[in-house]
Amino acid sequence: ALTDIVVVGSANADLVTTVARRPAAGETVLGSDLRVSPGGKGANQAVAAARLGAGVAFLGAVGDDEHGQLLLESMRSAGVRTEHVRTPDRPTGIAHITVTPDGENSIVVSPGANGTLTTADIDRAASVIAISTVVLVSLEVPMPAALRAIELARAAGVRTVLNLSPPGPLTADALAALDPLIVNEHEAGWLLGAETTSADGPALAEALLALGPRSVVVTLGGRGAVVATPDCVSTVAAPRVSPVDTTGAGDAFTGALAARLSAGDELLAAARFAVHAAAISVTRPGAQPSYPTRGEVRA
Ligand code: RIB
Ligand code: NA
Repeated sequence: ALTDIVVVGSANADLVTTVARRPAAGETVLGSDLRVSPGGKGANQAVAAARLGAGVAFLGAVGDDEHGQLLLESMRSAGVRTEHVRTPDRPTGIAHITVTPDGENSIVVSPGANGTLTTADIDRAASVIAISTVVLVSLEVPMPAALRAIELARAAGVRTVLNLSPPGPLTADALAALDPLIVNEHEAGWLLGAETTSADGPALAEALLALGPRSVVVTLGGRGAVVATPDCVSTVAAPRVSPVDTTGAGDAFTGALAARLSAGDELLAAARFAVHAAAISVTRPGAQPSYPTRGEVRA
């Protein structure tokens, strides 16, 4: 189909510096030259899915500026449809990212244009949501817009995937619509509270399933993922790789999972494919520029 997946979420310019170690409070460290590359959880997921062959439309906002152009070009060259992208009178969102030699990242996001996404913007795309196979939502946009997308998808009987990143409070109705809810261990802990800090992946996934979503995926970074449905809880191992830059690896996973679900895979098969897409992405710098094609994942 022309639009298999509608992605609702953020688009950011990633301003990336490599540092030997992160500065402590009050400390200054010198890092590498600045790299600017296309990112943002929503745009990342859209590009990841499109590069794997899914028909994707992105629903979000960028500024009328150089960073906005960078994002539109990255999405368009991956084949993402961008006619639902709004351009408010605010700068494109920015992510300040530091990457350490082990490939780990830490990120501060300034939302900019992403913060202007409204329920009316979602409503304007109701017809494309209704004909899609999967609606994929992440939370670097205002919660009312994210919840509206989930609500429209449910009303149209469209499968809804939510990446609870960064974490925010969901309604019981929204939770019940998710198939799957995708979280990492931090986000799982946020949803479940402190008593789960020592729980392993399968225990987290089962506890999350009890909150009401139709299915759950807990991503475990280099250790793979856990998939939980009412029938069974399964662990998916990740291939061993040497990470260069883990920025956006979760988005590579989420976009790949949505692409395979929209192509008709079962959740577990989709997750097995998605851990390979994410593993490839961490071996290359940046978020969107590092996402593999279908042929690369199969190889
Ligand atoms: O998930 C990674 C992304 O988080 C980065 O691309 C950055 O823009 C932030 O949104
Ligand atoms: Na990468």
